[in-house]
Amino acid sequence: MEESGIQEQSTTPDQPRSRMRCENPKDNFRLMKFRRRMLRKLGKLLYLFVKHLPGSYETPNFNAKKIRGNCAGLILEQCGKNVNFEKGSTFYDDLVIGNNSGVGIRAEIGECVTIGDDVMMGSDCIIYTNQHEFRRTDIPMRLQGSQGIQPVFIGNDVWIGSRVTILPGVRIGNGVVIGAGAVVTKDLPDYAIAAGVPARVIRYRK
Ligand SMILES: CC(C)(COP(=O)(O)OP(=O)(O)OC[C@H]1O[C@@H](n2cnc3c(N)ncnc32)[C@H](O)[C@@H]1OP(=O)(O)O)[C@@H](O)C(=O)NCCC(=O)NCCS
Repeated sequence: MEESGIQEQSTTPDQPRSRMRCENPKDNFRLMKFRRRMLRKLGKLLYLFVKHLPGSYETPNFNAKKIRGNCAGLILEQCGKNVNFEKGSTFYDDLVIGNNSGVGIRAEIGECVTIGDDVMMGSDCIIYTNQHEFRRTDIPMRLQGSQGIQPVFIGNDVWIGSRVTILPGVRIGNGVVIGAGAVVTKDLPDYAIAAGVPARVIRYRK
């Protein structure tokens, strides 16, 4: 037995030989965390390459949707089923994304973002969750650090048009539609259709 407490399992019929186990539950937990960390690193490394595969709706696409989705599954703690990470999209490993949702072509998703189920996203969307501090005028802004993370939440069944920018701390309700090119500076209530810069509710879906 190694010092870490990891050992080969004995060869009784109901204990397969190839499996590793730990005597100590603490070591088991550490081993699990280590494996998780390694898989996440592997996922991130692979994603650097697979994000350049063709868009999911291009032909041929070499099964890019599935490949990118599997990589994201390695990276993310909470990743729904049938998620479409489009070509060139980037995200942090704390992204939470629900079932049947999409991250658009070249989308940039900041830290600490939650996306619900059935969310559609056009190309070139940006979700910011942090920004520069700029209150002082006696020192350059580049030396003032950042304002800190303000999470963004996006509900279920949301359609985000192309080139939408969502600013830090915004909450988008369920069933919302956001028009192409909008800059969302404030929360949007359920079933709102919003457009423009800054985004204003133009009407409700119901
Ligand atoms: C927001 C959207 C869904 C609204 O569609 P709609 O209900 O048919 O809206 P209308 O065409 O009736 O426009 C209603 C008003 O909103 C304005 N408007 C619509 N979309 C707008 C937009 N993206 N930005 C600014 N204003 C917009 C219209 O000019 C109109 O203004 P008016 O009443 O002063 O004339 C649609 O315009 C849109 O932006 N779709 C996104 C398309 C896209 O990005 N597709 C690819 C990604 S999947």
